[in-house]
Amino acid sequence: MFPSSLPKARTLDPHAVPSLRWGIIGPGWIAERFARALKEFTSQQLVAIASRSQDRASAFASKMGIPQAFGSAAELLTSPDIDAVYIATPHNHHYPDGLQALNAGKHVLIEKPLALNAQQARGLAELAKAKGLLCMEAMWCDFLPKYDIITQLLEDGALGDLHTLLADHGEFFTPDHRIFNADLAGGPMMDLGSYLIGFSVKVAGAPVSIHATGQQVPGGVNGQTSMLLTHNNGMHSVLNTTLFSNTPCAAVIAGRDATLEIGGASFYAPGPFTLTSSQGGKVLHFDEPRNRYDQLFHEAVHFAWCVGQGKTESPVRPLSASIDTLAAMDEVRRQIGQVFNEEK
Ligand SMILES: NC(=O)c1ccc[n+]([C@@H]2O[C@H](COP(=O)([O-])OP(=O)(O)OC[C@H]3O[C@@H](n4cnc5c(N)ncnc54)[C@H](OP(=O)(O)O)[C@@H]3O)[C@@H](O)[C@H]2O)c1
Repeated sequence: MFPSSLPKARTLDPHAVPSLRWGIIGPGWIAERFARALKEFTSQQLVAIASRSQDRASAFASKMGIPQAFGSAAELLTSPDIDAVYIATPHNHHYPDGLQALNAGKHVLIEKPLALNAQQARGLAELAKAKGLLCMEAMWCDFLPKYDIITQLLEDGALGDLHTLLADHGEFFTPDHRIFNADLAGGPMMDLGSYLIGFSVKVAGAPVSIHATGQQVPGGVNGQTSMLLTHNNGMHSVLNTTLFSNTPCAAVIAGRDATLEIGGASFYAPGPFTLTSSQGGKVLHFDEPRNRYDQLFHEAVHFAWCVGQGKTESPVRPLSASIDTLAAMDEVRRQIGQVFNEEK
């Protein structure tokens, strides 16, 4: 039934969760935004940073006001004064860095994608379980108030039977970006495709069949991929990701009773959406400031809440969701012929 109003987001009070002592591995682009959001909006403590270079670690530490700087991840992980580690290295480092952190007895928040493929992700899940530690993919959008409202609408059946999900994520990158580097698991799939496939798995579960076609760029990296996923409930997800151009980064979930359109900004980032009834023209709008990187703090607050609850998996982004997403990406990559160096 079409709701009379939108549900309220179930957000945690950022100051009512345990204040963890965090270390970061990889002082790059996203790490800086994560550190800023943590400092500004939470009571989490940023206590250490590790780089492959002592100079880069020290520079990041002084810029972000972090007390300890280490010239290697191994040194950071020996510190007894760290509860949790945020891994913000390139994709192909997530699995080895994650294993290292868990083996050092730290809870671990790993940037998306959790690993390069489903097999690596299962390895991380098994180790976290064996160690009794929290392991979570930093799929930050899943923790946004906007996604929680959409989740509630889906759970309440506000859209009726789901038929179609459309989503695209295209971004123009210059050739010097790591995304074109085959040695860093380049191509759009890991960076941009994570959002598309993660979203379709979240809405309709793991796909039962996949059809994909890709276009390569010189250097052995995929440049764009289009995908058709069919889910258990019969829903089709039609997805496109490209490094060649900027595309709207919009998403639509079409159900029998209503259609949800997420546009105006990237569908996975803070911004507006509209729910429109299939008959009768009823419309509900959601809007909020497009403060994209500020809202990175939600994933850290949720992570700290999970640690406080003694959970080894997040109920919002369980490891099964990360594994299902990677398994679908594995099949897409098999069909388009993209194999990462670590898989050869
Ligand atoms: N949540 C989001 O919105 C978001 C946005 C962008 C990226 N990400 C994810 O975050 C991860 C990092 O992306 P980024 O854009 O922040 O990358 P980046 O700017 O290149 O930073 C990665 C950091 O990892 C370290 N590193 C370790 N081994 C490396 C290697 N072999 N080559 C290059 N750097 C290496 C580097 O620090 P040192 O050289 O000092 O060791 C570097 O600063 C990716 O997996 C990506 O999917 C998430």
